[in-house]
Amino acid sequence: MKIDCILSPAELPALAKRDLRDATCVVFDVLRATSTFVTALHNGAKAVIPVAEISEALAIRQKQPGGLLGGERDGVKIRADQTSGGDFDLGNSPREYTPEKVRGKTIVSTTTNGTRALRACAGAQTVLAASFLNLTATAQFIRWLQPAQILLVCAGTRKNLADEDVLAAGALGEMLVRWGETAGEPKGEQKHPGSRGRSPHQKRIYGFSNSAETARNAWRKAKSNLLEVVSAAENARRLLAIPELCDDVEFCLRQDVFNLVAVLGHDGAIRISI
Ligand code: MLT
Repeated sequence: MKIDCILSPAELPALAKRDLRDATCVVFDVLRATSTFVTALHNGAKAVIPVAEISEALAIRQKQPGGLLGGERDGVKIRADQTSGGDFDLGNSPREYTPEKVRGKTIVSTTTNGTRALRACAGAQTVLAASFLNLTATAQFIRWLQPAQILLVCAGTRKNLADEDVLAAGALGEMLVRWGETAGEPKGEQKHPGSRGRSPHQKRIYGFSNSAETARNAWRKAKSNLLEVVSAAENARRLLAIPELCDDVEFCLRQDVFNLVAVLGHDGAIRISI
């Protein structure tokens, strides 16, 4: 299996020309879009529909009036003066997506980088929304799926690379390699219902591209002081300076608190894989 990594959003437009038909794209926007989506799904949201533009979100809501509008511009909730209508229902803080607010709801979300990165992967066989919060569950799913290509996609922040996305991508790569090398059952692994006929003990060989190796090395160096490393980076500094959002940083760096896999379906909606 080949593992490649898109480190920065500057590389996203080139994805349209790439043949991703046998690829699984794993999209990371740790601060905060993908962390928010997996939190919403864990808390009972029916689906999350990621869209690039505010106008697209408004158009979908008009057709599906029961849904919620979520997302951000410059990190904060989208307000009436940006929509020529009302305020969005939710911002992009995962802590807002409580069971009381999201259970049974479809959320249409537009964010600066995360939702665009997810949409840029539309040509892939499988697209996963990943974060530290559901890292092991995502890795286990990929291990079961055995795609020919794995493309780790770091959504970044504005036009720049985001350290926390690269670190999460590296952590996932490291997990896959560790399991491949030991060729054993990862601790606590639950077999995916569709895994019949595939041996969980089968040894996998992973070929890392330079960028995927860079992400893996970054993770190895940073993993023992993740909060400190991420807090010094652009995206976290921006959130840490906003009193009502500063707790999002620690929230999103918790590992494996949700045992779910978030798959972007061909209908454009992210749901829990069952
Ligand atoms: C994004 O999609 O760029 C973000 O997740 C930004 C944020 O949450 O502030």
